[in-house]
Amino acid sequence: GIFGLIFFVFSCTKEIVTTPTSNTSAGNTNSNTSITYSNLWIPPTLSGTTFNLSLDKSTKQFFSGSITNTYAYNGANFWGPTLIMNKGDQVQINVKNNLNETTTSHWHGFHIPAEMDGGPHQEILASTTWSPNFKVMNNAATYWYHPHLHELTAKQVSMGAGGLIIIKDPEEAALALPRTYGVDDIPVVLTSRKFTSTNVIDFSTAYGDYLLTNGTLNAQISLPKQVVRFRILNAEIERGYNLGFSDNRTFYIIANDGGLLDNPVPVTRVPLVVGERIEILLDLSNDALGSSLDFKAYNANLPQGFGGSEPAQSGQFGSLLNNKDFPVLHINVAATNTSPMLAIPSTLVKNTTLAATDATNSRMLMVTGGQPNGPAFSFNNSTFNHQTINQTVKLNAVEKWTIMNNNVFGHSFHIHDVQFKILSRSSGSVGLHESGWKDTVYLPVGQSVTIIAKFDDFASDKYPFMYHCHFANHEDGGMMGQFLVVP
Ligand code: C2O
Ligand code: CU
Repeated sequence: GIFGLIFFVFSCTKEIVTTPTSNTSAGNTNSNTSITYSNLWIPPTLSGTTFNLSLDKSTKQFFSGSITNTYAYNGANFWGPTLIMNKGDQVQINVKNNLNETTTSHWHGFHIPAEMDGGPHQEILASTTWSPNFKVMNNAATYWYHPHLHELTAKQVSMGAGGLIIIKDPEEAALALPRTYGVDDIPVVLTSRKFTSTNVIDFSTAYGDYLLTNGTLNAQISLPKQVVRFRILNAEIERGYNLGFSDNRTFYIIANDGGLLDNPVPVTRVPLVVGERIEILLDLSNDALGSSLDFKAYNANLPQGFGGSEPAQSGQFGSLLNNKDFPVLHINVAATNTSPMLAIPSTLVKNTTLAATDATNSRMLMVTGGQPNGPAFSFNNSTFNHQTINQTVKLNAVEKWTIMNNNVFGHSFHIHDVQFKILSRSSGSVGLHESGWKDTVYLPVGQSVTIIAKFDDFASDKYPFMYHCHFANHEDGGMMGQFLVVP
């Protein structure tokens, strides 16, 4: 009856601890529920050519009552600092593991030797330090680091371990783009968590019911009345997001996983699956001072197959959180700085394109699994084994990979070492926002995607690279393979 319902609602609602802010204007009211916002946490930055990271046990007061145990880097409460690197620099990273379990640290999206990659083979035992060094060869864009230890990835990422990496290069620097970190160039890391009644992170489930933006619940930010840039990462375990603004305004995608696009792509919604990044420009120059709007995840008009076959319940694959569209960042429009950027550029960079005719080899990967008594997810009917090399690629090969999803779930396919171009989708439509360089791609149920990449620079007959589903629970469940690039 009604009392049961009231009790149910009451018992499912945690009292959120908020940092009191001066910004509690009338704009901070969302339809009939009043939300108290907290200021978006902006991860501190580290720059230079030597980076010291330590992965520690930490805590965060997400809710009133029990404090939540977390993992974080360099004394943060959840997540870690943003590393800022310059293309062309030789960098060294010292990763100290202060947990009492093994971890690894993977530089997602980086084109580096396999032994520096931080995949499942580069174990960092408890109380030890791993010190890879490599040349930064990637284009200016937004990348990230996270643990990648087989069967512990979902747990360690759920607990909060991860961080962004921003690569800068001269081509990007030459463009009129907002780039004042935390002021008009904003990191937006999206993830959600489920908490037990005693506020413990429940990492047995892939879907949270509380959204964390940079680790902040009910996040808000004051942004200058000008063009601003968001660097958005879907750092979820499994949920995909379909992002847009509460007034359905047009915004502009300027970069995806591996670099700037040729031209800004105007959209009103953009899907983002786990592991993918986009950079967008949002024009606030015509917004009134003191006005507000929400950056949100929407369920309506999801792209074809985007969670379409998942059960409609809390935790479905698409954008719903607790069966609702949900805000990811509340924006308050504030005064601008002295020389604001007011225009969306019409062109960005000239990307060299790989065409299907450039391919020197092609291969097919089948997403399998879900048979009675078998694993739920696999590639070509086999699950990850540290000792098994699943694919061998010749150095300098230009390869076309077709990944066919015969599994009953959608997946997020990620490959290490290379940035690729998406050549085609069996559904017929490669989104404009998917042009440019990618390292992670959405793979709808029953469909295939064909990508093309050049495997240059790094050969080894010993150290493999990974390809896998970036849903951490699928990856831990064995939906991962490895390839050698051989001379
Ligand atoms: Cu972001 Cu193999 O991972
Ligand atoms: Cu998957």
